[in-house]
Amino acid sequence: MAKSYTIIEHRYDAVVVGAGGAGLRATLGLAQRGLKTACLTKVFPTRSHTVAAQGGISAALGNMGEDDWRWHMYDTVKGSDWLGDQDAIEYLCREAIPSVIELEHYGVPFSRTADGKIYQRPFGGMTTHFGDGKAVRTCAAADHTGHAILHTLYQQSLKHRAEFFIEYIALDLIMEEGGCRGVLAWRLDDGTLHLFRAHATLLATGGYGRCYFSCTSAHTCTGDGNAMALRAGLPLQDMEFVQFHPTGIYGAGCLITEGVRGEGGYLCNSEGERFMSRYAPHARDLASRDVVSRAITLEIREGRGVGPNKDHIHLHLEHLSPEFIQEQLPGIAELARIFAGVDVARDPIPVLPTVHYNMGGIPTNYRGEVVTSRGGNPEVVVPGLMAIGEAACVSVHGANRLGSNSLLDLVVFGRAASIRCAELIMPGQLHRPLPADACDPFLDRFDRLRHANGPLNPADIRLGMQRTMQSHASVFRTGEVLKEGLEQLKAVMDSFTDVKVSDRSLVWNTDLVETLELQNLLQQARVTIEGALNREESRGSHAREDFPLRDDQNWLKHSLLWLDENHRVSIDYRPVHLYSLTDEVEVIQPSKRVY
Ligand code: FUM
Repeated sequence: MAKSYTIIEHRYDAVVVGAGGAGLRATLGLAQRGLKTACLTKVFPTRSHTVAAQGGISAALGNMGEDDWRWHMYDTVKGSDWLGDQDAIEYLCREAIPSVIELEHYGVPFSRTADGKIYQRPFGGMTTHFGDGKAVRTCAAADHTGHAILHTLYQQSLKHRAEFFIEYIALDLIMEEGGCRGVLAWRLDDGTLHLFRAHATLLATGGYGRCYFSCTSAHTCTGDGNAMALRAGLPLQDMEFVQFHPTGIYGAGCLITEGVRGEGGYLCNSEGERFMSRYAPHARDLASRDVVSRAITLEIREGRGVGPNKDHIHLHLEHLSPEFIQEQLPGIAELARIFAGVDVARDPIPVLPTVHYNMGGIPTNYRGEVVTSRGGNPEVVVPGLMAIGEAACVSVHGANRLGSNSLLDLVVFGRAASIRCAELIMPGQLHRPLPADACDPFLDRFDRLRHANGPLNPADIRLGMQRTMQSHASVFRTGEVLKEGLEQLKAVMDSFTDVKVSDRSLVWNTDLVETLELQNLLQQARVTIEGALNREESRGSHAREDFPLRDDQNWLKHSLLWLDENHRVSIDYRPVHLYSLTDEVEVIQPSKRVY
C-alpha cells in the first residue's frame, strides 16, 4: 500500500537515469554547464553495458585514408534502409568528429597509428565517395573501446562534481499535465524509496535485448526507461527493428566484434566456402549486419551449417598474426578461449546471429527531447523528458544500425541533450509543487509486485517470453509465425498476474528486481511483436518472407506503438524526416540497396 512507504525527496536541475555511455556523456555535459545533476544507475557506472562494446566508434577523421562526414551520412542513411531521419543523421555524422576529438582530450586511450593519430579500422557498410570505396572510419581502443570510453566519462563526471546514486533502480516517471516532473527510484542497498524531482529527466537506460533467449546484451539490459515511457502513456517507435549481430559465439551469445572482419577475418560454411561473396559480391564479409545475419541463417537453413548439428558457421582469423591479434583483438581471443574453447591462432570461432541492438525506442528529436504524436502533430515535445542512447529512437539508425554508430550515438546525443538542457533550464530554478499523492499509483504497483503470491516463478515466465521471441520474432519473420508468437506472448503476459515474489524484504531483494525487470521486458516484447506483425514489408533488420520487398509507397514511415494498462496496443505513424538540417547536404533519396 502506498501509504506504508516513506519517500526521500531530492531536487535537481536534471536527473539522468542510467550510467552507460549516453548517460555519462549527458551527466558530464550537464555538470560542465553548471546544472545540479544527479545520475542514478542500477549498476556501478563502469559496469554498464557500454563496457562490453568492442570494435569502436565511427567518425570521419580520415586518419587512415580519405574520409568525409557526408560519406558517413550517406552510409548511415543507406544502412538505415531509408528509415533514418536525415536531419538527425546529418547531426550525428557532422558532430562525430568534434565528439571523438573531445573524447580523446578527456583521456580515452585510443589505439594509435605509427604517427600518433587515433587508430581506425574498417567496419561494415562504411564507404568513401558515396559507396565507391571502403572507408576506414571506426576509431578503436583495441577491442575494448566501450570500456575505455566508459571509464573516461565516469572520471570526468566525478571531476565536474556530478552526483551519483549507485544501485538505485528507477521505478516510474512522475508525469503531470503531459510533462515529466521526475522519477521514483528504489535504493537497493538499504531499501529506501526516493523521489528525484527535476526540470529534465533524461532516460539513458539502454536496450531490451533480454527479451530474447540469445543476445549479446548484459542481463541488466531490460529497457527499464522504455517500459516507464509506455506506462506513462507515451509511445515507443519502430520496435519491430531488432538487430541480430552476425557473430555471437555459438551457444554463449557473447559478441565477437565486427572489427574481426574489419581486420581481415572471414566467414565460411561447412564446404569451406566464403559464402558472403554470393550474397554481397562487393562488400562480402563487411556487408551490413542485416545482410550478413540473413546470409548465415540461409546457409544453415540450406544445410551448409557447421558442427554436428550443422547449426552454426565458422569465423576464421587464423591467418592473422598472433602479434596483431595480441595488439588489436586481445579481448576476442580471450572470449573465444573461455566461451568456445577455441585458440583463434589455430581454429575458427563458431558463431551464430545473436540479438545485439534495438533500433526502436523512445521517439526523440535530434536534441534528445522526447516527442509524441498528438492531435495530428507528430513532433509534440514532452516537456521535461529526454531520451538518449539505445533507449531512444532519434532515429539515426532507422531499420538497421551500422556497426560503430552506436557508441557514436551515445556520445553525440548525450552531449546534445546536455546542451539542450542548458538552453532550457536556469541553474537552481525553483520546482513547482507536486501533489502529495503524486507517487501513490507507482508505489501501489511496486507494493503489489513485492507481495505477489501466485504459483509462478519469474524465471519461468521470463523463459517463456525469451523462447517465444527467439523463435517467433527472429531474423526472418512471416505473418503466420508472428501471429502465433503474439498469441503465445499474450498467454505469457497474462501469466504474469500469477507471479510469485518469494523475498518480501526491501534490502537487496534481487527477486523483486528481476520481477520488475520482467514486467518491463514483457511490455516491450509485446509492442515489438505487434510492430513486426503490423509492418507488411521487408526493410533493414525486419525481413518478412511473406512481404519480401521494401515498400516505400506504404511503409516509408515510423511506427508508434502505445500499450495501455489492459495490454491493448494501438498503432500510429510518424513521417520519416526526408530533409536535412542544413543546406550543406542534399537529401539522400530512397533507392535500391546494392551490396
Ligand atoms: O561488432 C562490434 O564491435 C559492435 C559494434 C557495434 O555494435 O557498434
